[in-house]
Amino acid sequence: MEKIHLLFCVLGLVFASQAFAMEAYKPGEVWDDAEGNPINAHGGGMLYHEGAYYWYGEMKTGKTWMPKSNASWGGSRVDVTGVSCYSSRDLLNWKPEGNVLPANQDDPTHDLHTSKVVERPKVIYNRATGKFVMWMHIDSMNYGKASVGVAISDSPTGPFTYLYSIRPNKGVWPKNADEADKQSDPPAHYVRDHEKGQMARDMTLFVDDDQRAYLFYSAEENATHHIALLNDDYTQLTGQYKRVFIDRSMEAPAVFKRDGRYYFIASGCTAWHPNPARSAVADSIWGPWTELGNPCVGKNSDVTFYSQSTYVLPIQGKDDAYIFMADRWNPKNLEDSRYVWLPIEFNGDRPEVRWQDKWSTAWFDAQPSQ
Ligand code: DGJ
Repeated sequence: MEKIHLLFCVLGLVFASQAFAMEAYKPGEVWDDAEGNPINAHGGGMLYHEGAYYWYGEMKTGKTWMPKSNASWGGSRVDVTGVSCYSSRDLLNWKPEGNVLPANQDDPTHDLHTSKVVERPKVIYNRATGKFVMWMHIDSMNYGKASVGVAISDSPTGPFTYLYSIRPNKGVWPKNADEADKQSDPPAHYVRDHEKGQMARDMTLFVDDDQRAYLFYSAEENATHHIALLNDDYTQLTGQYKRVFIDRSMEAPAVFKRDGRYYFIASGCTAWHPNPARSAVADSIWGPWTELGNPCVGKNSDVTFYSQSTYVLPIQGKDDAYIFMADRWNPKNLEDSRYVWLPIEFNGDRPEVRWQDKWSTAWFDAQPSQ
């Protein structure tokens, strides 16, 4: 009897370990973490630190519902749970590290209260201070607050301490103020936001080779993007910023650098629904940025393979290997939103993304050098 019991235990362990190891990326399917639970890290970003990747994202847990205020534009939601973190050394097996910035349950005025919006968390490491700094989109339920929030930790796996939220660049004219000044009739919201601080919704962070860090965010009612330089410890803005992609209405920005040039991938603005992705390239982070069109190629490229960009991950130790990370949102059941990761190819300067049913990072090794 004991022997049979032992056999079942061993078999159980074997099946358990097999079930929970992802052996390849299957975009759009349910991806399990190392404990066999669906990975819950949406609108995410990645940090590589001391041999490990840390994937941070929105925890989408519980009932999806539609606040009255958002019905006209399809802004369904789940209440805030927090920011999740998963770690991995091979980008396939993801150990859950827990909720590193939990929602506030008690204070309805708190930015992290369950009734608010916490989206697109990104974490960067500051070499000078040794701190991990998270920036994220903080909003009210109706997306009227349009702010960025900042949190800090001594460890990549948290806990993170929430610092504050702001509307960036209050009372500061952008670096290319000339361009705004040249307009005889500057948009009323732009003048207003100058007084009150700029609106900031979808966002990402980018750390350059010189360790300067930049915040990219959808500003001005999502019509125009701003690029803003962070201070040396990455917890504040310096007031140096620039308006880019003026009136091009983009969300979900992702930024990366390749061969000394800067690349930008984003989406259009259609709430949780997919649209054609955008891409751009620049020699300086401040621009000028040249738009390169939709980087997606082939069937369903017009809807970014039913997904929306969130991050571009350079793979450590592999030459010219970048993963396009995107979310396939399920607006009716946000908890069941999925991940679409695909390799980026380059056609000259142009990043291109093609669908694959199943792939792994070994795919990059088989490519002729580009
Ligand atoms: C589109 C944005 O890209 C998402 O992050 C989220 O804010 C949804 N809109 C909400 O509808």
